[in-house]
Amino acid sequence: MQRVIEKYCEMPVTIRRPMWKLWHNIIIWIDKNKDAVFMNYGYHSLNGDSKLGLESHDERDRYCIQLYDYVVKDVEIEGKEVLEVGSGRGGGASYIARYRKPNAYTAMDISSGVINFCNAYHKVEGLEFVVGVAEKPPFKDHNFDVVVNVESARCYKDIKHFFSQVYRVLKPNGHFCFADMIKKDEFEGIRSDLVSAGFEVVKEQNIADNVVEALNLDHERRESAISKKVPRFLRKSFLEFAGAKGTERYESFANGKMEYWAFVLRKS
Ligand SMILES: C[S@@+](CC[C@H](N)C(=O)[O-])C[C@H]1O[C@@H](n2cnc3c(N)ncnc32)[C@H](O)[C@@H]1O
Repeated sequence: MQRVIEKYCEMPVTIRRPMWKLWHNIIIWIDKNKDAVFMNYGYHSLNGDSKLGLESHDERDRYCIQLYDYVVKDVEIEGKEVLEVGSGRGGGASYIARYRKPNAYTAMDISSGVINFCNAYHKVEGLEFVVGVAEKPPFKDHNFDVVVNVESARCYKDIKHFFSQVYRVLKPNGHFCFADMIKKDEFEGIRSDLVSAGFEVVKEQNIADNVVEALNLDHERRESAISKKVPRFLRKSFLEFAGAKGTERYESFANGKMEYWAFVLRKS
């Protein structure tokens, strides 16, 4: 299972999509208290920026929330129409909907299991979760002011086509807030796919050091949740997926083989 996580992107798409659904269903089965609402590695500022103000019940998810906050912080969200693609267990969608007050926030994921979980769990005005595939978003052209995509796109069947679909559903001058891990030698290709889709790069930053710092600060919480909830035979896979210290994923960020890029792009 561990090797499957490491080699996931190299597998045929016919296996990858059902695997996400299976993975979500395993988490729904394991996480009976519904404690896990994020599936990203997190972000922590290294510049001594002032601490992000959070309600006490959001503190547990501080680092994962800080990633979402970093990704959207330079873009106007209040009163806007926002789409998120690959919203997972919905924590990021809930954070943005509650703190940044869009007019409507549509959060889409490929897995119907996780979408049912999100619609039952996250009750926020204007926030809706829908099933959909990133490369074929079921929305009309020029529909959204902002599209958000966090730690989801790297292994899509056709990332170039996904970028063109984001461009299609955005209104003119709309923003695409995109963050994901990218192998060092794949960065130039992905950046050029974004530009060929028609986007103007407003901001781009390799935040791998910030991600490693977040994983360090969040390590105890991640490890203890996994050892409490996950059956022994699945623990190594969950630690790898969570980027816990000592895993290949953690080391790949720490040694620079894997970068983590955050982009703000504009439909020009
Ligand atoms: C690592 S999780 C990140 C979830 C969330 N963005 C977060 O930060 O917590 C990646 C998510 O992308 C979704 N996903 C993977 N491939 C997809 C596709 N082709 N279309 C839509 N969602 C997809 C998965 O089901 C999963 O929920």
